[in-house]
Amino acid sequence: MSITARLDAVTAAVIARAQGGADGQAPAKLARALHYAVTPGGARIRPTILLSVAMACDEEWPALSDAAAVALELIHCASLVHDDLPCFDDADTRRGKPTVHKAFSEPLAVLTGDSLIVLAFDVLAEAAGSTPLRALNLIRVLSRRTGMPDGICAGQGWESEAQVNLSAYHRAKTGALFIAATQMGAIAAGHEAEPWEELGARIGEAFQVADDLRDALYDAATLGKPAGQDMIHSRPNAVAELGVQGAIRRLKDILGGAIASIPKCKGEAMLAEMVRRYAEQLTPVAPAFSQANARR
Ligand code: IPE
Ligand code: IPE
Ligand code: MG
Ligand code: MG
Repeated sequence: MSITARLDAVTAAVIARAQGGADGQAPAKLARALHYAVTPGGARIRPTILLSVAMACDEEWPALSDAAAVALELIHCASLVHDDLPCFDDADTRRGKPTVHKAFSEPLAVLTGDSLIVLAFDVLAEAAGSTPLRALNLIRVLSRRTGMPDGICAGQGWESEAQVNLSAYHRAKTGALFIAATQMGAIAAGHEAEPWEELGARIGEAFQVADDLRDALYDAATLGKPAGQDMIHSRPNAVAELGVQGAIRRLKDILGGAIASIPKCKGEAMLAEMVRRYAEQLTPVAPAFSQANARR
């Protein structure tokens, strides 16, 4: 079974359980909003990295890795629902369809994000089984990278400061869940988390630089979400700081360093190949790139 199909199956089960409520009675609109926020899903890059690291560390598919991957993706989906709210980016579309607050309402979008966050930790607690210490470590890593001062909350919090350090902002806003991805993959396989931090941080930073490039270079139809947002909201971003060419050079440097940082493990070569593939996918494609260059 492919990683995506596996994630589909586990996520569907988790959401079905969350929608039903313990006594089979739950508010119907919120239940539908939860389902709406996680389907059909996005690129699932974070759980894919998590499962790739888990497989690179272990001979077998580690028992906790499915739950870890689903929990991580639930937090990511929640972060998008909250990020799109009028009090943050006020976005009307996400993944090619109306955002949760547009399709349901603002209160239901706040509650959808909240419910998905709590559900993520419940998934890990429920999966603890015969490896409770691993599950506890997964919960600790995921909570650290979701909250304050090292997680998404901190990242979004930078947007309310007058002076922003671009790399601290990117590291917390986006890098945090990529660090969670590599470290949770290692923990699920019974390995130490610490050696995997740099790889996650580098992939995360590259990903956000690429997202800034796409935000500046592509249109809303291509992105499936509003374009040009960084400029509209005066967000610090890699294109404003480094220019298009500079941002692309930065992306390549970061990913080169990512390959060099892969810890020793049986799947080292497979992981290096995965990072090379991401480098190709993340670099903006020629037509959009040359059009935007002509404008700059
Ligand atoms: C979007 O993440 C938010 C950022 C951190 C830039 P993704 O591009 O991974 O979103 P989906 O899950 O594929 O929609
Ligand atoms: C989203 O960052 C990051 C989080 C949700 C934490 P952006 O606001 O830059 O991403 P998009 O462009 O809306 O996906
Ligand atoms: Mg935002
Ligand atoms: Mg946004």
